[in-house]
Amino acid sequence: MPVQAAKKSVIKSSSPLSPALSSMALFARNFLKSPAMLGSVVPSSSFLVNDMMNQVDWTRARLLVEYGPGVGTFTREILKRMRPDALLLAIELNTDFVEYLGDHILDPRFRVVHGSAARVRHILAEQNLAPADYIISGLPYLNMSDSLRREILGESRLALNAEGSMLLFQYTRTLLPYLESSFSSVKLNFQLFNILPALIFHCTP
Ligand SMILES: C[S@@+](CC[C@H](N)C(=O)[O-])C[C@H]1O[C@@H](n2cnc3c(N)ncnc32)[C@H](O)[C@@H]1O
Repeated sequence: MPVQAAKKSVIKSSSPLSPALSSMALFARNFLKSPAMLGSVVPSSSFLVNDMMNQVDWTRARLLVEYGPGVGTFTREILKRMRPDALLLAIELNTDFVEYLGDHILDPRFRVVHGSAARVRHILAEQNLAPADYIISGLPYLNMSDSLRREILGESRLALNAEGSMLLFQYTRTLLPYLESSFSSVKLNFQLFNILPALIFHCTP
């Protein structure tokens, strides 16, 4: 079936700042409150977002899960490219971001859940959803304990269907051995134009 142009998402703004500035301000405020949870003072660059998006086969992506959407930098681009009959489930630990996304991204193909990516399989089951085609992760794994990294990656592997993929970016290679022990294939790309330059990992079960 051909991929049709997706309906434009409705983005609401109640701030006197432009939507882009007010979302940057919300991100920066939350970084000051919980630097380890965010892992970066600014959202990802459009270069990094586009590189990650180019790794998705949009014709077969029916169920996508996004970890750590923040203020929606990846979310909006995923929704622009997604099939009209696809669903994007975002899992976010920070309640300010959950509220912001719930208020600002009014697209019937989008759901946001407050929780940890470590609970991805429970959340999919609670939402009556099958294993995912793609997991797109924006999580700061370097700031997590060894056991939490392993738990999230192991649960992610089990939350994907047999043809599924997990895409994630990191600023170092530290996560590579963890990825290699959870997934049978891990491919690596690099994007220089981001604060900080990022490695993109494409993992398949
Ligand atoms: C570096 S920010 C990425 C934001 C956005 N995806 C981007 O790339 O600009 C990391 C995000 O992960 C969220 N986060 C951290 N740990 C999490 C977890 N265990 N489960 C879900 N979200 C988490 C943070 O609240 C934050 O929104």
